[in-house]
Amino acid sequence: MKILVTGGAGFIGSNFIHYWLAKYPADSIVNLDLLTYAGHLSSLSDIENDPRYSFIQGDITDAVTVEKAITGVDLIVHFAAESHVDRSILDPLVFVRTNVLGTQILLEAARKHSVRFHHVGTDEVFGALPLESDLKFTESTPYDPRSPYSASKAASDHLVRAYFHTFGLPITITNCSNNFGPFQDPEKFISRMITNLLTGQKVKVYGDGKYVRDWLFVEDHCRAIDEVVHRGQVGETYLVGGLTEDFNNLEITRKVLQIMGKDDSEIEFVTDRPGHDRRYAVDWSKIQRELGWEPTKDFDACLKATVDWYQAHEDWWKPLKAQSEAIYK
Ligand code: NAD
Ligand code: TYD
Repeated sequence: MKILVTGGAGFIGSNFIHYWLAKYPADSIVNLDLLTYAGHLSSLSDIENDPRYSFIQGDITDAVTVEKAITGVDLIVHFAAESHVDRSILDPLVFVRTNVLGTQILLEAARKHSVRFHHVGTDEVFGALPLESDLKFTESTPYDPRSPYSASKAASDHLVRAYFHTFGLPITITNCSNNFGPFQDPEKFISRMITNLLTGQKVKVYGDGKYVRDWLFVEDHCRAIDEVVHRGQVGETYLVGGLTEDFNNLEITRKVLQIMGKDDSEIEFVTDRPGHDRRYAVDWSKIQRELGWEPTKDFDACLKATVDWYQAHEDWWKPLKAQSEAIYK
């Protein structure tokens, strides 16, 4: 199989390329990535000379580039996006451009060339859940996005489904919860926290810290996409989540502090994010039931592996740190 991965120089895309080439030695991958602030070829330096891998620097909103990249491809796995909520509050337009227009351009090319399309979505399209409840998002939860990021991702999901219903394009969608793991840009909560601590800065906890995310180890996410691409039902959506038992941001912070041998004096509560979603929680029973997927059981071990990775890969994240902190100034 020849796969077009969009956004393969980003966090999840680069993990996915590593995962796929290791698991399927006969497959090849074309990585189409614009290399925005979030795209790092340093995440793929170990495979840059692998004959099964090629890279095209280009914009998914550019139909000519997409047309070139799609030649001979059997499957598109679409990760490319503007992905950071805080940035979407500062500059929403680029989110609409890449996440909505870019997805449409890709869908059109996939339609023209009859290419199977897998879309990587987010659980944030469903809005926020109350803190004290057992409610979880399911595949039938109505969409209720509340940030420019999640609104643009919601629009892209709708377009993907529209291409299935209107044109019969063979699509699947996964909507997953917050990922963490190696190669995550130091702008996101867990990667920012670890790299702050490694550079003598405090952990910045927004508001009261009682916000809940459903943390998913990135390798588990790659495995879920693998299952859906191979055995998922065309036209269907699968939710993918973790096993974090509703730990809030403060509890996650304390876990990381403990792993790194530090204490609460490293915590700084800062101004809250506008429109901050309280809680996300994902019911992943459909993908478990239909495809046998489930997340890794040991969250603490995955968190420790992530801390260890950042400790061992300062050369990767140090050059990115100043830029990612700049948006908070
Ligand atoms: P990321 O920000 O780390 O990477 C995005 C990549 O897309 C970068 O390499 C960037 O250069 C590239 N890109 C951006 N605009 C582009 C354009 N116009 N043309 C071509 N390439 C472009 O993102 P990520 O965290 O790896 O997320 C990947 C996907 O997964 C996104 O669609 C995101 O919405 C979704 N997702 C992420 C999470 C998470 O926790 N990170 C959770 C749920 C869903
Ligand atoms: P983030 O990693 O930005 O993902 P998302 O907003 O897509 O869920 O944030 C995860 C949670 O952590 C969210 O509740 C916001 C919070 N947060 C902090 O408390 N401090 C930080 O420095 C960052 C980046 C996020």
